[in-house]
Amino acid sequence: MEKKWWKESVVYQIYPRSFKDSNGDGIGDLKGITSKLDYLKELGIDVLWLSPVYKSPNDDNGYDISDYQAIMDEFGTMEDWDELLAGLHSRGMKMMMDLVVNHSSDEHHWFVESRKSKDNPYRDYYIWRPGKDGQEPNNWTSFFSGSAWQYDEHTDEYFLHLFSKKQPDLNWENPKLRQEVYDMMTWWLDKGIDGFRMDVINLISKADGLPSSPGGKRYDWGGDYFMNGPRVHEYLQEMNSEVLSKYDMITVGECPGASTEDAAQYANNEGTELNMIFTFEHMDIDSGPGGKWDVKPWKLADLKEVMSKWQYDLEGKGWNSLYLNNHDQPRMVSRFGDDGSYRVESAKMLATFLHMLKGTPYIYQGEEIGMTNVRFDSIEEYNDIEIHNMYGEKVIEGNEDHQRVMEAIYVKGRDNARTPVQWDDSENAGFTTGTPWLKVNPNYKEINAKKALEDKDSIFYYYQKLIQLRKEHDIIVYGKYELILEDNEQIYAYTRSLADEKLLVICNFAGENATFTLPNDLKYGSRELLIHNYEVDAHEEISNFVLKPYEARVYLLN
Ligand code: NOJ
Repeated sequence: MEKKWWKESVVYQIYPRSFKDSNGDGIGDLKGITSKLDYLKELGIDVLWLSPVYKSPNDDNGYDISDYQAIMDEFGTMEDWDELLAGLHSRGMKMMMDLVVNHSSDEHHWFVESRKSKDNPYRDYYIWRPGKDGQEPNNWTSFFSGSAWQYDEHTDEYFLHLFSKKQPDLNWENPKLRQEVYDMMTWWLDKGIDGFRMDVINLISKADGLPSSPGGKRYDWGGDYFMNGPRVHEYLQEMNSEVLSKYDMITVGECPGASTEDAAQYANNEGTELNMIFTFEHMDIDSGPGGKWDVKPWKLADLKEVMSKWQYDLEGKGWNSLYLNNHDQPRMVSRFGDDGSYRVESAKMLATFLHMLKGTPYIYQGEEIGMTNVRFDSIEEYNDIEIHNMYGEKVIEGNEDHQRVMEAIYVKGRDNARTPVQWDDSENAGFTTGTPWLKVNPNYKEINAKKALEDKDSIFYYYQKLIQLRKEHDIIVYGKYELILEDNEQIYAYTRSLADEKLLVICNFAGENATFTLPNDLKYGSRELLIHNYEVDAHEEISNFVLKPYEARVYLLN
């Protein structure tokens, strides 16, 4: 097993709009982030992933980029960015930028040119097609509801947009476009960044001929024709040889719809593509047949099955990334734990569960203090384009029940993760002196970083310890995973093995006591309790004992 710094690292994700505002305009910014670097250092993280900070009209909060080599005005200047990078490096932390190149903004000069005429030199930077029988070129739908095609009167053609209509898809078949992307990446790497998180990177190759999804529906999900498409590995290998292989860097590709077989190729050990990918499979265990908004209760058995599959299938082949939430997902403690009476215990348990798995763990801002989902009363209080487009389609056009749709937003909406970080118990949680762009979660007086830093038993210090343990024990990074107690409906337990050592990870996912019984074949000489979220007698026999609600323990066995 080859040792790599990015396997040993813990990544912290910042969604800049919501992290910390330094100038009172209600929007988080680069200077705000720089002011909190000591906080991140104290937590112990190694790499900062910055969600997009590039120039953008903010149709999708920065994931619609109009200039890849300039900073968004609201976030500050390139000098502010330089200062942030220097601040990270001087503290021994690294920076990973977000690379959003499946699509650009429609305000990017490439697209402004592209839409001018069919023979414009930039026409082929995007995917243009004539309509078919007065309708869209095919029946694909956008991730953000409605058709994935937008008609443009000026040249009487449609352009493809898998996300909003202000996010036209780039045409990766065009070698000139690919070269522009590689040059831009090189420019950032030469400025000193340490890696890229690649937005929906497995969507860059679309099926030949852009076929409609079968079944004859006017609008249908066409995922099979644009996820993990025919040339995606070729493009990534080219990107790797043109750019990535020239730097000692970290790369993670966001890959909806990727199987473990796909992942073994994207994140292959030979290093010809990416270091690791983000899978979505565990994020789908609470979705019904109707997709994301068709919410159903998740089952521990499904979580075990999915996580174990990714652990087993990539063993010896590729590397996993580990996450339970990010800027697109609800807060993990609300989704997989208990954000009421057992908020602290369950947040620690979930962190234990995740950080002891094999892969590189990602922490999403506010996770380290146990921030929770939010319930706003009216749809107007939400900002996210995905929420508004879905609401428009379902409630305004489709006459679905308003309250039912709001309930789905409360569980799954992306704004759950995007409310401002709660720094202290002053007005607006210390995030801004102005009016925040998205309302602060009203629980900020109870849940905030200041309080966490003052309490030695806080979730914050528990994360600090988890990260510290990773630095002390190779087995946490490199040990081989094995699921135990597969059929237990409350406890998720597994081992990790490296040389003569074994790590025993025991997590009670239930809000009640659960009895743990050590499997007979798990023999050991001595044991050491590495971390736990309840008071435990370290000498207690472990062949059989009772775990409290959301209790977690990790033993090192020799
Ligand atoms: C995935 C990003 O994480 C999400 O926030 C964004 O809306 C889409 N890709 C489109 O860029």
